Amino acid sequence: MSLRRIAAAALAVAALATIASPVVNAATTTKKTTTAATAKKGPALAGPAAAGKKVFDTQCGICHSVAPGEGGVIGPELNGVVGRKVATVAGFAYSKAMKAKSHMWTAGNLDIYLADPQKFVPGTAMPINLPAAADRTAVIAYLSTTK
Ligand code: HEC
Repeated sequence: MSLRRIAAAALAVAALATIASPVVNAATTTKKTTTAATAKKGPALAGPAAAGKKVFDTQCGICHSVAPGEGGVIGPELNGVVGRKVATVAGFAYSKAMKAKSHMWTAGNLDIYLADPQKFVPGTAMPINLPAAADRTAVIAYLSTTK
């Protein structure tokens, strides 16, 4: 190997090290930023609740909101629904079928309803179901983090 080649190889190694080091720094910075954000907003959603937010956003959010006071567009507000009495969002026009019910939305009742809304509340205006048990468990876990 000529001296020139050795010098070129050394330069290449130095260049690689320069490229690699900002990546390492970026990763460290990202971690710090996340920790700061978590401290501000409270604990981040973990496990099933995080998965449930995804289910909610893709399957429920088109009709339901979880923002207090935002009201229902097509369906009633679902923030705080776990532990709430059925059909009690003020100002939402529930179906007769739903108004005739008097149960609480326990995790168990939500699971039965979401598996087959028409079976649990025949005549309900909610047109979709969640056939996968894992999706139901996740979305219920997510809803129980809302107030
Ligand atoms: C296409 C619109 C639509 C979608 C999508 C939808 N819903 Fe609904 N949902 C409704 C409507 C409309 C009602 C009111 C039903 C009635 O009055 O019979 C309702 C009612 C409910 C209720 C009863 C609330 C109460 O106050 O008693 C729950 C719980 C619920 N939905 C959960 C969900 C979940 C969880 C998802 C996603 C997996 C979902 N819904 C997806 C339209 C929808």
